[in-house]
This record gives sequence, C-alpha cells and structure tokens, in this order.
Amino acid sequence: MSKNTVETSTKTSENKLWGGRFAEDTDAFVEAFTASIMFDKRLANQDIQGSEAHAEMLHKVGVLNAQELADIQQGLAAIRKDAAEGKVEWSIALEDVHMNIEARLTDRIGIAGKKLHTGRSRNDQIATDIRLWLREQVDFIAGEITRLQQGLVELAEREAHTILPGFTHLQVAQPITFGHHMMAWYEMLERDYERLLDCRKRINVMPLGSAALAGTSYPIDREFTSQLLSFDRPSRNSLDGVSDRDFAIEFTSVASVIMMHLSRFSEELVLWTSAQFDFINLPDRFCTGSSIMPQKKNPDVPELVRGKTGRVYGSLISLMTLMKSQPLAYNKDNQEDKEPLFDTVDTLIGSLRSFADMMPYVETKPESMRRAAMQGFATATDLADYLVVKGMPFRDAHEVVGKAVAFGVETKQDLSEMTLEELKQFSDVITEDVFDVLTLEGSVAARNHIGGTAPEQVLLQVAVAKASLAAR
Ligand code: ARG
Repeated sequence: MSKNTVETSTKTSENKLWGGRFAEDTDAFVEAFTASIMFDKRLANQDIQGSEAHAEMLHKVGVLNAQELADIQQGLAAIRKDAAEGKVEWSIALEDVHMNIEARLTDRIGIAGKKLHTGRSRNDQIATDIRLWLREQVDFIAGEITRLQQGLVELAEREAHTILPGFTHLQVAQPITFGHHMMAWYEMLERDYERLLDCRKRINVMPLGSAALAGTSYPIDREFTSQLLSFDRPSRNSLDGVSDRDFAIEFTSVASVIMMHLSRFSEELVLWTSAQFDFINLPDRFCTGSSIMPQKKNPDVPELVRGKTGRVYGSLISLMTLMKSQPLAYNKDNQEDKEPLFDTVDTLIGSLRSFADMMPYVETKPESMRRAAMQGFATATDLADYLVVKGMPFRDAHEVVGKAVAFGVETKQDLSEMTLEELKQFSDVITEDVFDVLTLEGSVAARNHIGGTAPEQVLLQVAVAKASLAAR
C-alpha cells in the first residue's frame, strides 16, 4: 500500500472548494465522518486518468487553451508520480480524492487548475473513476480465472485415468475419473468467466459529462472523452449516469457466484486431505501447522477461501441495500459503495490467486482413492445395467443387485471380488464377462459419451478446453 498519509486539518470552510456559501466551519467530527479520502485515495490513478481525458476534451471544444491544457497535463502527471511514490499527504479537510487532487493541482499550476472542473461534477467523476478502476480489476480477475482453469485442465489431463469414488449425498455412488472431477470445476469457472465478461459490458459505459445530474451547458464532446478513456460509449441519461451502481452490484453478484464455486472446491479439498478420505496431498507451503498438536497439517488455504465467501455475500447485500429506495440522482449514500466493492475485489483476487498457485501442485493418492471406490459397491449400477443388456427389466435387475450387495456387506467383499458362482446365485444370466463391467476401469470406460466420465471423454473435453483457453 502507498506510504501516502491522510491528514486532518484545521482549514475553515472558506478554504474548502465548495466553501463559498458557508458561514461557519464544518464541525470537526462531521468533516472526518463525511470524508472518503481514507479509502477513495485508492482511485487516484483513475481520477487523474479521467481528468486528463476531460481536459483534453475541454481543449478540443475550446474551453481550455493549449497552454492551460499543457499545464494541467504536466501538473496531473506530477501528482500521479507523487502518489505512486507515496509522497502525497491526503487531507481529510479536502474530503475526497477528487478535491484532494484538484487542490493539489491548483497549488502546483495555479489558475489552469481551477478551470479543470468546468463542465463536470464530483458526481460524474466518481461514477467514472469506479468504472475505470473496476474495468481494470475485471481484466485482472479474468486472467486469474484463466490461470486457475489452466491448472485444472492440466491436472485433468494428468489424472484422466485415475479413479476415485463419485458421491451423491456424500455416499459412494459410482466410480469416476479424477480428471472428470477436475473438469467439472473447470466448467463452473467457464460460466464464471462468461458472466464476468458479460458484466464488463455494463461497466464499460462512461458517465462523465452527466455533470451533477442534468448534463452541462458547455459544448462538451462526450464521444471524444469516451474514446480517450476506451469506454464503449457515453451513458445515455445523465440522471442514470451519476446514480447507477448496478454495475458494481452485478460485479459483486458475479464475484459471489465465483466465491460460492471456490467454497465448493474448498470443501472437497478439505475433505480429501483428511485422514478419513486421504485422496490428495496439498504441498506443505499451502498448509499450516497447529501450535499445540505437532502432527497437524491443516488445509488453511481452502478453509480460509471457504470462510471468505461469506464476506463477499455480505458485500453484495450491503450494495443491494445501499441502493434500495434511493431517489434519483446522486446521493451521499453512494459513497458507501467503495469499501464493499474494494473488499470484494481484494477477497476474490486473493482467493483465485491462492487456488491458481496451488492447483498445479495437488498430488493425488490413487491407491487410497481406489480403496475407497472399492468400499461402497460403486459398480452396483454397472451390474444392473449388465443384467438389462442380458434382457432383464431394469426394476428386476435393481432388485437382484440389491441382494448381491446385501451378500457383499455380509461377507465383506466388493461385487468385483465375488466368484462367478457366488454371483450366479442371484441370476443365472450372469456369465464370465460380468467382470468386465464390475471392475472400476470397466465401469468408467463404459460411460463413453459426451459428458461421461470415461478417460477418453475426459481427454476430449481437455482438448476442447485447451483450445478455448488458447483462444482467449
Ligand atoms: N466522495 C463522493 C463519493 O464517494 C464523491 C462524490 C461526492 N459528490 C457530492 N456531491 N458530495 O460518492
């Protein structure tokens, strides 16, 4: 974080940029209470970027002369550099990032600095700043999702033939391949990626030029500013332009779904690393120990990500509630949008990053997974399907296999471990070829259709995924 400090000041209202109509100083507590500089200083770069484009546009339409534009450009560049080096003393008396930067600019370059705010308002400024900032973050997040997906695809390819029990109700259901399981996670993230890019379209609209709420009487060229800032277009209604925070809510809802997915991956990783499952090993550097129990190696990263999901949901509810019943146009309430949004972005990026970093190093324990798959009669459905192929109605087959399973429970053996004679006592249509379907390999190989768990299908989906990731 920057070394820039925030300082309280004893400046009077006369010194405030809006001080003209005020007869007494702002109450010191109110000044601090209403300020946002403590957190919106994070938008300094975007605020400067917006000001540069605005100034260039004002020059194009003849409101600023060439010298004034040059002064503003040089002054803003210097402030950007100061801020990057932590040399800016942000002032609470100057309330927010916009007035801090404007005052600093005027201190530096004099009269031209005072002209920058022509034809705009902090209301359209803040709406623009957040969009510029969020757009950058979205692009970074899309990259982190891609990185995590790449890790999953590689793991899926490596473990396309590795068998583990698949679960329903967290009870052993049918054998599946580890690669298939990884590709299920991949698909969730694929939808997240699409949602994120879709939400970016609505972020990438420029409110600047809406001014306070009604537009401005200066002959501004919003198309020009919009192009300078690489927005898709200017917003079409100034009231909506300054008050719309849908884009932040939509982003936070996309983030909530991503976190929900990560919490599901987390839960499985936590289960799988436990001694009871023992399906995988996470590298030591992604785990921590216990201060009292020397034997412990805890899966902290997935646990923490699972926990952090809650704060992102919380931010979504905060933002929804913030906007509830707000009359048009800008209201000070909106200042409360920043912290939940920043926290959402930070939490999401941290969670995606830790998963993307960790995924390539997940080690499977095939023996252990196999043992678990052998324990829950995972190929019972395969035996039923086999009987159906031999002409038995499915309901009868279900009944026959149920009896075989009961026998297995009693004699402590899996279906594949029974002799042909033992199996034949449940139906005489059973012959030697039954063992082709009762093995774990036979079971997964048989599910060889689009979306099935057969290694062949998993590898096909891996190829599709690789092509799609390469095309990004
Ligand atoms: N700090 C304000 C915010 O975050 C900036 C806009 C303030 N506009 C105003 N008229 N008070 O929303």
